[in-house]
Amino acid sequence: MKIVVVGGGGREHAIIKGLKKNPRVSEIYALPGNGGIARDARCVPIGATDIEKIVEFAVENKIDYAVVAPDDPLVLGCVDALEEKGIACFGPRSCAAIIEGSKVFAKNLMKKYAIPTAAYEVFDDVKKALEYLQTAPIPTVIKADGLALGKGVIIAQTREEAEKAVRDMMEEGIFGASGRRVVVEEYLTGPEVSVLAFTDGKCVKPMVSSMDHKRAGDNDTGLNTGGMGTVAPNPYYTEAIAKRCMEEIFIPTMNAMNAEGRTFKGCLYFGLMLTPDGPKVIEYNCRFGDPETQVVLPLMESDLLTVMQATTSGTLNETDVKFSNSYACCVIQASRGYPASYQKGFEITMTDEASAATYVAGAKLEDGKLVTSGGRVTGTTAVADSLKAAIAEAYRLSGGVRFENSYCRSDIGARAMKAGKEN
Ligand code: AMP
Ligand code: GLY
Repeated sequence: MKIVVVGGGGREHAIIKGLKKNPRVSEIYALPGNGGIARDARCVPIGATDIEKIVEFAVENKIDYAVVAPDDPLVLGCVDALEEKGIACFGPRSCAAIIEGSKVFAKNLMKKYAIPTAAYEVFDDVKKALEYLQTAPIPTVIKADGLALGKGVIIAQTREEAEKAVRDMMEEGIFGASGRRVVVEEYLTGPEVSVLAFTDGKCVKPMVSSMDHKRAGDNDTGLNTGGMGTVAPNPYYTEAIAKRCMEEIFIPTMNAMNAEGRTFKGCLYFGLMLTPDGPKVIEYNCRFGDPETQVVLPLMESDLLTVMQATTSGTLNETDVKFSNSYACCVIQASRGYPASYQKGFEITMTDEASAATYVAGAKLEDGKLVTSGGRVTGTTAVADSLKAAIAEAYRLSGGVRFENSYCRSDIGARAMKAGKEN
C-alpha cells in the first residue's frame, strides 16, 4: 500500500512512525516532510497547501491512501480534491474543517446545539466591538475568526489591552483577513485538557487525554507557543469527567455537524477547560494536535492505519481503538528565541537511542547533515509505567539531542505530577 502524508512537522513524523507499523504499508511519501522525517518516509518537495500538486502527485503515483494532517490544507479542501480523484483520505472535507477554520462558525454551532462553551459576542464592526468592551467583564478574551497559526487569541487583563487587541486585529490587520471578524469571549478558569477523538460521523472514539504546555517559559510564563511539551494521560481528566464530556460535548458535536450537513470524518480535537461549572469547549481543531500526537500515538495499541481506514469507510463502530495504561511525556527542544525571532542553520546530532525516541519538526538536510530550520526543532517522547518515570526518561533521552542555541522547558509534566497527587 502506498500512502501520502501531507505536512512536515513533529506530528506528521509521529503519524508516519505509527503508520509504518502496519506490514501492508509498502511506501510512505511525506509532502513536504522534513530532514528528520526523511529517515522514515520519502520526502517530496510539495508544500502542504499546494493542493493541485498534491493531487497530481497522488494520481501519478497511484497512491492508495492519503492522510492530510495540518489545518490549512484541510480548510482549503485538500481532502475534497483528493476524493474527487478517487483517493481515499483521512481527514475532514472543507465544509467540516470549518469547525477550526472559523471560530465564529464553531461558537455559533455550540450555541445552536447547547454545547457548553464560554459566552461570547461576534463583531465585524470595530466601533461596535470597542463600545461593547466598555462594559464587558475583565479579563476578557479576544479571538480572530480565522486561522492565525495558533496566535489569534489574546487574553486581555485590562480594558486597554482588550481595546488594543481589537484595534490590532480589526484595524491594523495583524492577522490579515483572519482578524477582520473577532469573537469577544468570557474568560474561563480551570485546568485545560486536550482530547483527540476519531470520528466517522456515526460514533466518536476518544484517544487517551493529554496536557499541552503552551507557554514558552517554565511555570507557564512567557509567550504562547505551538506547544513546548505534552504528557498523557491528563490527570485532571477522570473517568467521571470523560463520561460527561462524551455525553455533553463529543456526541452532541458529532450530531450537530451531521445536522448541519457537514459530517466530520477524521480526528476531531477538543480543547477543553474543566471550569467550576463543568467541562467547556475552548476550541475545536479539525486535526491531530501538535505536540499532543507525540504522546498520544505512542500509547496507541490498536493499529493506526486500520483505525484511520475505518474512520474513512464509516466502520469505526466495529473497530477497536485501544490505548495502553502507561504514561508518556514529550519534551520539545526549540531554537532559543522561539516563538519570537531565532537563528537557524545549526547542525543537530542525536545518539541512537535519542534518535529512536525523537520526532523531528523544524529541521532540514543540508549536504547530508541535519540542521535546524524552524522554531520547534525536535520532540523526544518516553513511555513508562508511571508519569514520574516517563518525565525523567524523556528528559534523559532529550539530552541526547544536541544543537547550538537549543532550549527546552525544564518543567514539562510538573503540573500533572502535582495534580496527580491532589486527585
Ligand atoms: P487557543 O489558541 O484557542 O487554544 O487559545 C490559546 C489559549 O488561550 C488556550 O489554550 C487557553 O489557555 C486560552 N484561552 C482561550 N480561550 C479562553 C477563555 N475563554 N478563557 C480563558 N482562557 C482561554
Ligand atoms: N497543541 C495545540 C494544537 O495543536 O493546536
